[in-house]
Amino acid sequence: MQLLDGKKVSEDIKNEIAAEVQRMKDNGEKVPHLAAIIVGNDGASLTYVGSKVKACERVGFESTLIKMPSTTSETELLKKIKELNEDDNIDGFIVQLPLPEQIDTQEVLMAIDPSKDVDGFHPENFGKMALDMSTFIPATPFGILELLERYNVETKGKHTVVIGRSHIVGRPMSILMGRKGFPGNSTVTLTHSHTKNITQITSQADIIITALGVPNYLKAEMVKDDVVIIDVGITRVADETNPKGYVITGDVDFDNVSKKASFITPVPGGVGPMTIAMLLKNTLLARENRKRK
Ligand code: GUN
Repeated sequence: MQLLDGKKVSEDIKNEIAAEVQRMKDNGEKVPHLAAIIVGNDGASLTYVGSKVKACERVGFESTLIKMPSTTSETELLKKIKELNEDDNIDGFIVQLPLPEQIDTQEVLMAIDPSKDVDGFHPENFGKMALDMSTFIPATPFGILELLERYNVETKGKHTVVIGRSHIVGRPMSILMGRKGFPGNSTVTLTHSHTKNITQITSQADIIITALGVPNYLKAEMVKDDVVIIDVGITRVADETNPKGYVITGDVDFDNVSKKASFITPVPGGVGPMTIAMLLKNTLLARENRKRK
């Protein structure tokens, strides 16, 4: 079994980006600037956004964090997005999800200028991704592709089973694994809450990508020998023996499944840090695109 070490690979990527930012500075060029909007006080979301801002500092990007109260109206949020769209100093920005229920997420995502949509969630960018056109690939799927590529995990002709059809992970992942090229050329099954006999499907999978948010859901009995496991789950599970009061737990029963797997991502230290590194990569791309314009 080989660990797909997202912590290490993400450090390599951040070092590559930092070197590029240094080159920009040496040439007197503007460095990339990422902004993030967070609405409300969800602890996990605040932690994720904090990590994104910290990662910007680490590679030499500029960053702006905009915190809005949980009572923010859709109109107020759309106004803030318009400001960021028109701010020439901002190369890319994200709106952290989920949003409070009074706000229509799809309306918000459609208001983001596609050229600044470094999450790749705007329908124009999502459509381009599905058509193999150059665009921003959503950071978590992009990070998974990068891990498979850097560890040279064979995907051609393999049966990839994706668990969960979220717009952020499962849906784009199912498209990307089936497209021509590497990583890709897989035969993809997208499973979800209405899928019957899930074990029958997962036990035929060469590659399983699980993005469910149910701790320890995938058990050893559900997978075959030498399976490749990508665990996107990051759920906080209460644990009083831990100083934080919780432990981050993946969708996979790691101790048992890892005994059968050829490759597996740990949680934490797998997909999570890759997501942040690829958001930085998209922001660098946004900067380069704007410079060319
Ligand atoms: N919430 C969970 N993952 C993500 C992500 O990749 N981007 C944003 N904006 N919100 C998220």
